[in-house]
Amino acid sequence: MPVELRSIVWEEDGTVRLLDQTCLPHREVWRTCRTAEEVAECIARLRVRGAPAIGIAAAYALALAARNAGSRDMQELLEHLERTAAMLLATRPTAVNLAWAVERMLNRARSLRALDPEAAAALLVREARAIAAEDEEANRRLARFGQALLPQQGSVLTHCNAGALATGGYGTALGVIRAAWEEGKTIHVYVDETRPVLQGARITAWELQRLGIPFTLITDNMAGHFMRLGRIDAVLVGADRIAANGDLANKIGTYSLAVLAFAHHIPFYSAAPTSTLDLSLPDGSQIPIEERDPEEVTYLAGRRIAPRGVQAANPAFDLTPHRYVTAIITERGIARPPYDESLRKLLEESS
Ligand code: MRU
Repeated sequence: MPVELRSIVWEEDGTVRLLDQTCLPHREVWRTCRTAEEVAECIARLRVRGAPAIGIAAAYALALAARNAGSRDMQELLEHLERTAAMLLATRPTAVNLAWAVERMLNRARSLRALDPEAAAALLVREARAIAAEDEEANRRLARFGQALLPQQGSVLTHCNAGALATGGYGTALGVIRAAWEEGKTIHVYVDETRPVLQGARITAWELQRLGIPFTLITDNMAGHFMRLGRIDAVLVGADRIAANGDLANKIGTYSLAVLAFAHHIPFYSAAPTSTLDLSLPDGSQIPIEERDPEEVTYLAGRRIAPRGVQAANPAFDLTPHRYVTAIITERGIARPPYDESLRKLLEESS
């Protein structure tokens, strides 16, 4: 029986259920959101997280807003949706999937001007569901492309969580690992715990355990050690935003891994759906890097671990320059350097 891992469900009663990822691995708590504001709170507090999942949640938030608006006409509904979109966009700035999904929902709403608001709301629910389903399909496709890059037998290091829970289903970086495993390859995963909020230790470990894929949990600062010992055959991560030249933003710590992999001649791959590409940016210098509450650093699992009053930095993402990226795995195929050409070509060829 294939394992079903999912973090976002649209219910027929017109609510969205989110698996609260802040409670993992100890408790599986599902939160029911009835308003866009409740979804926005879940995004800001990392209850729902991972670039594609944030986009999907935002799409459902706009569908909820449309259903709840009680607008008299389409002009009123569109204005309401634009205000809701601005509120959602302010939650987390780095993952471009959020802006991508919000823009797609607004465009769909604008195309429905001729309808009454109730009929338009029903079609917006359908659009959000399509975004979720297409994301899962994209993951499955990119996973099939990506698994071919992994050896028949070997070990892969991953960072943060780019699994089923971070997406519409199946996962990006973890999806590639899962596809290789399903293909019969003998893969061992090294899982970075991913400080400060431990998406690796809490969520990736939880997913891999359910999938039955063998792994070893390590602290982030062990990665270089295992690379030097020849224990890592590939580094495989997700992405939150990829610029036209292949520079990519991903969870803080990704840059260090990429440089270490480069120094040890280990391939460094990023797996992401094309909704994570932002070709409007020529390079990564303009990607906004989210700064989060320093308490995520001075506290661990609710306990203060540093003296009171210390100053702490907390950038949630970092930028990996394209020269360290061996290949970018998408649902439209695998891009290799020079990315200015290969990424654009991938989009053009299949559109
Ligand atoms: O802060 P998070 O947990 O949302 O960060 C998630 C990541 O950095 C993931 O690697 C990325 O979003 C890709 S998820 C498929």
